[in-house]
Amino acid sequence: MCGIVGYVGKKQCLPILINGLRRLEYRGYDSAGVAILSDGKFNRTRAVGKIDCLADKLKGQTMSGTVGIAHTRWATHGGVTEANAHPHAACDDNLVLAHNGIIENYRELKEKFLQGHEFKSETDTEVLAHLIEAHYKGDLRLAVEQALAHVHGTYGLVVMHMNEPEKIVAARMGSPLVVGVGDGEYYIGSDTSPMLAHTKQVIFLDDGEVAEITPDQLKMFTLQDEKVTKCVENIEWDDEQAQKQGFPHFMLKEIFDQPRSLEDALRGRYDLAEGEAHLGGLNMTPEQMRQVKRVVLLACGTAYYAGLAGKYAFERLADLPTEVDVASEFRYRDPIVDDRTLVFGISQSGETADTLAALREAKRKGAQVRGIVNVIGSTIARETGGGTYIHAGPELAVASSKAYTNMVAILLLYALQFGRLKRVSAATGKRLLDALLEIPGKMKSILEKSDEIKKIAEKYQGARDFMFLGRGINYPVALEGSLKLKEITYIHSEAYPGGELKHGPISMLSPEFPIFALMTQNQLYDKMRSNVQEARARQAKVILVATEGDESVKEIADDVIFVPPTMELLEPLLNTLPLQLFAYHMAVALGCDVDRPRNLAKSVTVE
Ligand code: M6R
Repeated sequence: MCGIVGYVGKKQCLPILINGLRRLEYRGYDSAGVAILSDGKFNRTRAVGKIDCLADKLKGQTMSGTVGIAHTRWATHGGVTEANAHPHAACDDNLVLAHNGIIENYRELKEKFLQGHEFKSETDTEVLAHLIEAHYKGDLRLAVEQALAHVHGTYGLVVMHMNEPEKIVAARMGSPLVVGVGDGEYYIGSDTSPMLAHTKQVIFLDDGEVAEITPDQLKMFTLQDEKVTKCVENIEWDDEQAQKQGFPHFMLKEIFDQPRSLEDALRGRYDLAEGEAHLGGLNMTPEQMRQVKRVVLLACGTAYYAGLAGKYAFERLADLPTEVDVASEFRYRDPIVDDRTLVFGISQSGETADTLAALREAKRKGAQVRGIVNVIGSTIARETGGGTYIHAGPELAVASSKAYTNMVAILLLYALQFGRLKRVSAATGKRLLDALLEIPGKMKSILEKSDEIKKIAEKYQGARDFMFLGRGINYPVALEGSLKLKEITYIHSEAYPGGELKHGPISMLSPEFPIFALMTQNQLYDKMRSNVQEARARQAKVILVATEGDESVKEIADDVIFVPPTMELLEPLLNTLPLQLFAYHMAVALGCDVDRPRNLAKSVTVE
């Protein structure tokens, strides 16, 4: 979704802004722009398409200047046009502004305050630029605060005014903003990625905060103009971790990161001898943990499928009834929760608007709320004030991979932590942990099959439909495999529990409609085998994920990807990998933009 970069300092800022925008490309966007104050006027250039289109347009232009803002836009209000791209200017080009979020009352604002203003775009953002202009009386920060008092909606914004040439004012409500602290310079970003190459010292803005930034000083205020003191935080991720490291795409790199990122997720969070997990962020005594009577997992997309896999662990190990809810549904239901309900919001970005709103709703109704989040310092992490980082490292491909496996692992550890207070013995806990510690090695052996999986993907690249089947814990894996395929290849695919096939979807099967079935040796193996045979009897081609050594599966499959055996609860940690690789290789074979699939954004910060 949209991205913001800003710089205030002594360096020439154009390369800093353009490189910063490139670091934000993973969020998804359809146009980009930059505005720099040079020689007493704003030099503003915008372009539809990739950052390269903007860079091409900038070639040959002299755009010197040490203070500037830039933006990648993912269209919401108004089409994908240059006029709608940010930064926007107010009437006489003396003020420029870039904005993430949605101004819900932009029509009323126009009518009430902005009669006579000339608008050049169809965006809600331009209204904000004019509104600040209308309130400007020589102090940009005050104008921003006064203008925002009339605004309903969400924003992360950066704004500059010609009369205050060395200054950027930034404000946040519902759309993240971070300030990176350098030596006599400040970086601004909608997340930390544009600044990681320059500084790891950052300050996160909270909702309702305004920052006034000049090369020598950062001053923070509330929207009511009261001074705020903020702490500088240190970001552990480095710039190199956020690069492709020789892989052709971020997604492939991130799929291959999984053995290491899983180790990072587990490190220091278990006690093998006692067979128990200890995730500190829960902030509950054992007595308080025993009071928990129900668990609710809230998330969207891949994080939701990780939650579905985690449900099995919570019910089996922790004896806790567990619901998994799509956050965008939960927030508008009348969810029944109380102080004995423990709600986890699961999110890679920690910024997903629906998940955040669902968590707020759960909190309002009295539930205990925690986060399972990847991005450090993100809104969900800070608002829940408790929970766990999954430590997957930067995930930049739009299609999530390593965040999924780490989410599943953290849910398993939480389930074990609760389970050990109930009926799980030290021996059972130890068996689970031993098996978990073997997973990174087993993941590596699956990743070695990448070329084999590539050949299978190429063989099926003509198929326009796919059916993913799984049962029990492999059903969420099927859902995740199907989502991966559709989001990066645009091929239609569905996922069903194997037992549901005969209740309807089997009618679609044909030689042109292959099935991808998860048929590893767990308690539902025989049932799944029957379902695969039902599909095969309808001439559907069959690709199987099966357990190493189970040669008998070859009789009923066209193609088989073998995976090492593991405990049933841990199967999603292995069985998802062939599906990720299949989707990846299929997308490459079809010439799709793997890391930035059409219409999608990495961080979905609007409803
Ligand atoms: O950042 P989050 O984990 O909260 O994001 C949730 C979904 O938007 C995300 O998982 C989405 O489904 C991915 N594109 C899946 O690959």
